[in-house]
Amino acid sequence: HVLASTPMLLAGRTSNLKTLAKHALSSTLWQRSAEPLVPLPARFISTAVHFYQNRQLEAYASKAATRLTLRQLVFFGRSMNEERLIKSANYVRTELPIRIAHRLRDMQALPYVVVTQEGVAKVYELYWTAFDKFRRYPQITTMEENDAFCEFVANLLAEHKSVIPNLSLGLSLSSPYLLSDRLDAFMRRMLVSRISRRVLAEHHIALTKSVKSRDHPSQEDVGIISTRLQVKDCIERCASYLRRRPTNVDEDTLSGPLNHAPWSEVAIDGHVDTKFAYIQEHLEYIIFELLKNSMRATRVKHPTADVLPPITATVVASDNNVCIRISDQGGGLVSSEIKSPSDLFSFSHVRNATRLANSRLNALRTVSSSSRGMRATMSEQVRDWQANSKENVPADSVDPHPRIGIGLPMSNIYATYFGGSLELVSLDGYGTDVYVRLPKLGTNLEEIEL
Ligand code: COI
Repeated sequence: HVLASTPMLLAGRTSNLKTLAKHALSSTLWQRSAEPLVPLPARFISTAVHFYQNRQLEAYASKAATRLTLRQLVFFGRSMNEERLIKSANYVRTELPIRIAHRLRDMQALPYVVVTQEGVAKVYELYWTAFDKFRRYPQITTMEENDAFCEFVANLLAEHKSVIPNLSLGLSLSSPYLLSDRLDAFMRRMLVSRISRRVLAEHHIALTKSVKSRDHPSQEDVGIISTRLQVKDCIERCASYLRRRPTNVDEDTLSGPLNHAPWSEVAIDGHVDTKFAYIQEHLEYIIFELLKNSMRATRVKHPTADVLPPITATVVASDNNVCIRISDQGGGLVSSEIKSPSDLFSFSHVRNATRLANSRLNALRTVSSSSRGMRATMSEQVRDWQANSKENVPADSVDPHPRIGIGLPMSNIYATYFGGSLELVSLDGYGTDVYVRLPKLGTNLEEIEL
């Protein structure tokens, strides 16, 4: 009955809410199906109840998000003092529940069958809990309160590490029930919004650290933004890390061997001295994923070569943009499963049949349930190496990276978040060129949708 009454409750008849929720919990929740009614698994009960607690959610979801530009984040963070830091804390405290509320509303608008897919209810719960905690969080007025707030936010950031693999698993499993355009538009809103929330949260935590360690103010970093990020260094760091992975393990199946030749070298040309203001973690995420794909494709395409063809990364800076082209000889992208390169961004099995492949679903299940969540960022991994080894990192200390099919769609979303783009060009039978364009001036607003 509760589930059948959704439209009535969403229409605001909240006086019935408590009674209905009480009935739901005191007896058994039932889901509708063509078969005789079956009990709803216990793990969905609290999710179902939240579906009817909409009054608070409505209040927040009706407010517009205050979108920012990269330049605003730098300007505000540059002349930080305690007063501005408290302002920043309260901005994060009040802005994040608005952004989360929009996404909770978005999830509620999906057919209920989606919310019952593996992974989706978990994400809904995480967001509901975070929303509720943020909206109840008291105003921050002192540095001590800000410290406690940073700890609170850092804990949420850690708890949410498994969101993307869970969402990807649930939406892949839902793709038989949703039109591919609707599914992909939903995923895009979820992922862009998540990036935006993590940027605000991490930027504030980084600003707090820099205000507290006044002895060593960095001229070049403002919060999480590197104001003079050297593109060539990022490419080299990613290539060096990726080339240290074992060569004898197929990352699709985590069993081997493929071919024992060393990974392709990465040659960098073009405007190699290019520097611009950007979030290092975002740029490195994109480059890391693109190089990883190129390296694997090259290895698979040349199974007996002793030396694999190199990959070329060309960097070009124009007045408004920084462009990076990554070219490989890995045979191109179009296959029996992928008809057009842009289908690789899709989470729908209609456009990308690999979404429902068992190996992919199992890899997603493994990553979703791991406490580390998705792979740590490049910067975190490089910091780990440096902590563990002063000089060279032995090859066997770098784990293989299970292929969960998220790298390309996420890279696309990272590139477009501040108004850039990512395009794939397949030279079928020969190789792939990927073009990444990132705006250089930082004047574009975050591309989040309401
Ligand atoms: C997320 O990572 O999905 C978030 O929303 C993080 C935020 C709660 C700090």
